[in-house]
Amino acid sequence: MDESHISRLLTLPDRSFFLFGPRGVGKSTWLRRVLPEVPRIDLLDSSLYLELSREPSRLEALAGNLPEQSLVVVDEIQKVPELLNEVHRLMEARRWRFALCGSSARKLRWGGINLLGGRAVTRHLEGFSWAELQGSFDLGVATQWGSLPLVHLDPHNAADILNAYVSTYLKEEIREEGIVRSLPPFLRFLQIAGLLNGQLVNGQNIATEAGVPRSTVDTYFSILEDTLLGHFLPAYRPRLKVREQTRPKFFWFDCGVARAAAGLLFDPVDRVWQGYALETLIYHELRVHNHTQAKNRSLCFYRTADGAEIDFIIETRKRQAEARAHVVCLEVKSAQKWNRQWERTMRSVSEDGRLHVDRMIGVYNGPRAYHFEGVDVLPVADFLTALHAGEVF
Ligand SMILES: Nc1ncnc2c1ncn2[C@@H]1O[C@H](COP(=O)(O)OP(=O)(O)OP(=O)(O)O)[C@@H](O)[C@H]1O
Ligand SMILES: [Mg+2]
Repeated sequence: MDESHISRLLTLPDRSFFLFGPRGVGKSTWLRRVLPEVPRIDLLDSSLYLELSREPSRLEALAGNLPEQSLVVVDEIQKVPELLNEVHRLMEARRWRFALCGSSARKLRWGGINLLGGRAVTRHLEGFSWAELQGSFDLGVATQWGSLPLVHLDPHNAADILNAYVSTYLKEEIREEGIVRSLPPFLRFLQIAGLLNGQLVNGQNIATEAGVPRSTVDTYFSILEDTLLGHFLPAYRPRLKVREQTRPKFFWFDCGVARAAAGLLFDPVDRVWQGYALETLIYHELRVHNHTQAKNRSLCFYRTADGAEIDFIIETRKRQAEARAHVVCLEVKSAQKWNRQWERTMRSVSEDGRLHVDRMIGVYNGPRAYHFEGVDVLPVADFLTALHAGEVF
């Protein structure tokens, strides 16, 4: 047994599945753990890659003579999207099941490839979660450097590891794949996107700053999304008729990777950055819980007409003809002391009555938990305990 191995929350589906996740979050390691005896086709192996690109039908012979219901792992499936047709055929002809792993949905989707028409479910893996690390979780390290496995295992070298992470990403995902025509504007964009982690996205401003057309900014963001490095958090729109245009916020999947993209690895981070880093971490934990517990709730932020915000809104029940939508409101503050002003927007949404507010929660860095008439104010660790115990949603 490997002493440093950390068990993951993800459980093995009982049917074929895609496993998506950003680079380096532990996908291959998890597959090797949970499926140790299963034939594995690893497309990182360049000779295998060449062979299967030329002749996808070799997959059957490479997997071996397996009985029905056998599982076959294909790692880095995005490298040869054409293999999916063969996978599809083998699911039907041989009744095999597949575990298909990749760090990008880009080519699979954009190639117009059939995603197996519902024959496979989708699972997600992210950096380590608080619930996986338990006693070895360190909030300071997690907000400074994020929670990639390699960073967690060697926090003293976090800056160098993250620097290499972004360089490798640029080399392997961007340059070698020929995704962007020219690298310099993408590099400028990457830094800007790093700096605005957790903030509202103004595509026009970013275009001006990066010196590229507005449409190129959209393409660049879609590259970050498709390679799972970042997510747009939309503004919550409970009433479908009202078309107020509120821009989404952009969050990197990991605070450390955001910092690397921003070019701030070797600088001390300021308080504003710390605030966004804590939100990034909370969002990460919300996504992990949402995925691993198959909650499938939409996560949003809330913005009132006069610009006041609630950091996260989790819709726990959709609006129906006769019932208001139900939501949980979260206000996240990187502060040692809780200021009761921070409850105001959550309370006004709750009193306004258009939404049914299940719970209002403040999350902060201080040591004590409080209950102020309907609002739970929780230290980060208490909140994460409640979240992973299923008490938040
Ligand atoms: N559960 C774990 N416990 C301890 N270390 C881990 C764990 N998962 C991954 N690691 C370490 O993190 C590194 C990256 O893991 P892995 O190669 O599995 O990631 P990946 O998601 O497959 O990345 P890629 O997309 O680049 O293939 C490895 O060196 C591995 O040893
Ligand atoms: Mg891998």
